[in-house]
Amino acid sequence: MDYIVEKKIISMVNVLVVGSGGREHALSWKLSHSSKVETVFTAPGNGGTENNVPISVDDIDGLAEFAKKNNCFTVVGPEDPLAAGIVDKFNQLELKIFGPTKKAAQLESSKIWAKDFMKRNNIPTARFEIFDDPKKAQQYVESLDYNVVVKADGLAAGKGVIVCNSNEEAISAIQTILVKKTFGEAGNRIIIEERIDGIEASYIALSDGKIAIPMASSQDHKRIFDNDTGPNTGGMGAYSPTPIIDDVLSKKIQEKIIDKTIQSMANEEIDFRGFLYAGIMIRDNEPYVLEYNVRMGDPECQPITMRMDFDLFDYFVASSEGNLSSMPPISWKNQFAVCVVLASQGYPEAYSKNEEITGFESVSNKSHVFHAGTKKSDGKILSNGGRVLGVTALGDTLESAIANAYDSVDKVSWPHKYFRKDIGQKGLAYL
Ligand code: AMP
Ligand code: GLY
Repeated sequence: MDYIVEKKIISMVNVLVVGSGGREHALSWKLSHSSKVETVFTAPGNGGTENNVPISVDDIDGLAEFAKKNNCFTVVGPEDPLAAGIVDKFNQLELKIFGPTKKAAQLESSKIWAKDFMKRNNIPTARFEIFDDPKKAQQYVESLDYNVVVKADGLAAGKGVIVCNSNEEAISAIQTILVKKTFGEAGNRIIIEERIDGIEASYIALSDGKIAIPMASSQDHKRIFDNDTGPNTGGMGAYSPTPIIDDVLSKKIQEKIIDKTIQSMANEEIDFRGFLYAGIMIRDNEPYVLEYNVRMGDPECQPITMRMDFDLFDYFVASSEGNLSSMPPISWKNQFAVCVVLASQGYPEAYSKNEEITGFESVSNKSHVFHAGTKKSDGKILSNGGRVLGVTALGDTLESAIANAYDSVDKVSWPHKYFRKDIGQKGLAYL
């Protein structure tokens, strides 16, 4: 099928979204609304995504073959294939793809690389030292008069970070990562950094290696239990925009962190194309980078995507072609969006699977249920992971968006459903 834009005839293309989480369902959903996109495939996808292709995210050759055969523009959701070089491979094969190269993905795949990068480029982050020797690490901790965070260098599915309240906890964290090797090879080296106590928010921008367009601000809820207690998870809910990042702070983050990162990468001859996510801690009105991700956040993606009033596909193409400055400004729905993650009881530790989920038909049209750990079987939707669904709703105020989301949360159920009851409350308290 062809259509005409600005007097040019453009063929419609297919899109291949790589991944299987809530983020990928939200991206597939948004991209399927583009007038330029014919079919959105998702590999491997989940119980909510359509046109699933049974190729795993680490089978880069298989994904390339599928993309080539089906004339796809590929969009990569998670970090692992980016760190493994999926974009480099697709570029070699002249297949169109959105996301950073392996070198650029080091901002996420090696926390040590990222910290060194920030240090040499004066990007604000917590003071730190790097160790591979547990004895020296312990001596260092004992010499400090502030609390620390101990981090494994490599990718550890969001779990390789231990926030410590005392020297004893820090020493035990060193043992866990460097000696017991709980996170395997990812823990061959560690970072010990100053614990910054402040307010945390997510700042995500879309870059083409030259400029970076900010996405709407958001705030995640990483701990498993209400009031930010219990162990860290991939994220139990998020809302957008967050009042915590006002215009003044937003400008500061954009200039001191995002633009500086893209420019410094370019100066080091690394072209950063894709989503750049800065996990920010705000202390005394100053932002510090806690971590970089080289992709959309999950669940931040779900509320951010619901507020987009522009054709995301066009911007993915422009990012991948180094052409973002030629694009019109983006616009956002003047509403709040809230995503409540419904998880399997027990997550982030052991949990049960294969429980039937019911009630989808009762969810109001003010919300959208994005699937994450689900699968389809005999016409039923079954739970298939720790984070199962992301119930996301819009509202004219943060309060109404929260109410709309929780109204739908109550409609969907399965035996071991668990969710936080306070998603968005941090934003309300701040307001
Ligand atoms: P990360 O995976 O590096 O984002 O760390 C996971 C979580 O640990 C973050 O979302 C923060 O809540 C916390 N964290 C990481 N680094 C620090 C730090 N330097 N100070 C305080 N909290 C931190
Ligand atoms: N929600 C945090 C992350 O995507 O890393």
